[in-house]
Amino acid sequence: LELEAARVRPSHAGHESFMLAEIGEQPQALRRTLRAQSAAHAIGEAPWETLAGARSVSFVGCGTSHHAALVGRYLLESWGGLRAEVDVASEWRHRDPDVGPGDVVLGITQSGETADTLGALRLARERGAHVLGLTNVPGSQITREADGTILTDAGTEVSVAATKTFVTQIAALAGLALRTGVARGVLEPARAALLADGVERLPDVVAQAQEAAAAPVARAVERWAEEPFFLFLGRHVGLPVALEGALKLKEIAYVPSDAYAAGEMKHGPIALLSEGTPVICVATESPVLDKLRSNVAEVRARGAHVLAIATEGCAGSIADEADELVLIPPTDVLLSPVPAIVPLQLLAYGIARARGLDPDRPRNLAKTVTVE
Ligand code: G6P
Repeated sequence: LELEAARVRPSHAGHESFMLAEIGEQPQALRRTLRAQSAAHAIGEAPWETLAGARSVSFVGCGTSHHAALVGRYLLESWGGLRAEVDVASEWRHRDPDVGPGDVVLGITQSGETADTLGALRLARERGAHVLGLTNVPGSQITREADGTILTDAGTEVSVAATKTFVTQIAALAGLALRTGVARGVLEPARAALLADGVERLPDVVAQAQEAAAAPVARAVERWAEEPFFLFLGRHVGLPVALEGALKLKEIAYVPSDAYAAGEMKHGPIALLSEGTPVICVATESPVLDKLRSNVAEVRARGAHVLAIATEGCAGSIADEADELVLIPPTDVLLSPVPAIVPLQLLAYGIARARGLDPDRPRNLAKTVTVE
């Protein structure tokens, strides 16, 4: 009942802003979402059944939801055994996409009302594809239009910058990928059980990441709050985390920042680095961690300063190279974006506050964009 009331009348009692309250609530938001997942709750047709017989899945979304979709692609390909692609909704719908019967288009939108995402789904339907949705708002437009919709249960998100809805979207996509993989016969029961256990542990892992991030992020804010530019680097599932971290910093702290696949650094962004440029490296465990370690060394060799997000037990040389280090608890590699985003949310928040800004009401932005 208390939770229900909190959802109806969101409050940031005890916190200086909704955004900070919502970052702090992420373990509970995940717990609620996973509970709904284990009850296999969906509106309309069950998305995992649709995906079980699909030829491919295309994810579409905007802003933070697009970044969750980028993680979803790894999950559906690797755990679900399904060819997956991702695009921002406003691009996908205007590029004559190659989808038709047998394909699934999955729109991700926390509000369920974003015009471009809904427009993309209407086009998908016209072309004969199956249309699925992932949203945080029961009764929103996407739930009325999609053939099947999965709900996250993050509770109402008031702050314009999405935080708890992002991590719950990834958790829901992980659950969807698991069910799809089992239904398609690509996940052995033992492996599926292991992955499910990893998903169930996400709320605790995020709570630990919050604790681990507090001190190094506070130091990073003190050090870099006035810097004019930040570069974010990541590879593999660390790339969507880098993109989302840079988006948060732009949205609420108005700091110019760029996010790049670390392997692309030498093709341009390295020219932006000079003595003291802050570079945020998402260096969590992954099959390409060694390559990322070399990128961190290259960045350091140019005099840039590094905040690294690494995984406990496999930071290796990164622990020596980084000026500031956040160690997140180990998880399955594909789930690591959930804890890894926490320090970057807190970094953007801290820098916004240090610059005297109100993180809940960033200029020029709306929480829900119902126009194209
Ligand atoms: C706006 C918000 C972003 C959000 C995006 C997509 O731009 O400011 O925080 O990520 O819309 O919203 P949706 O409701 O579709 O997830």
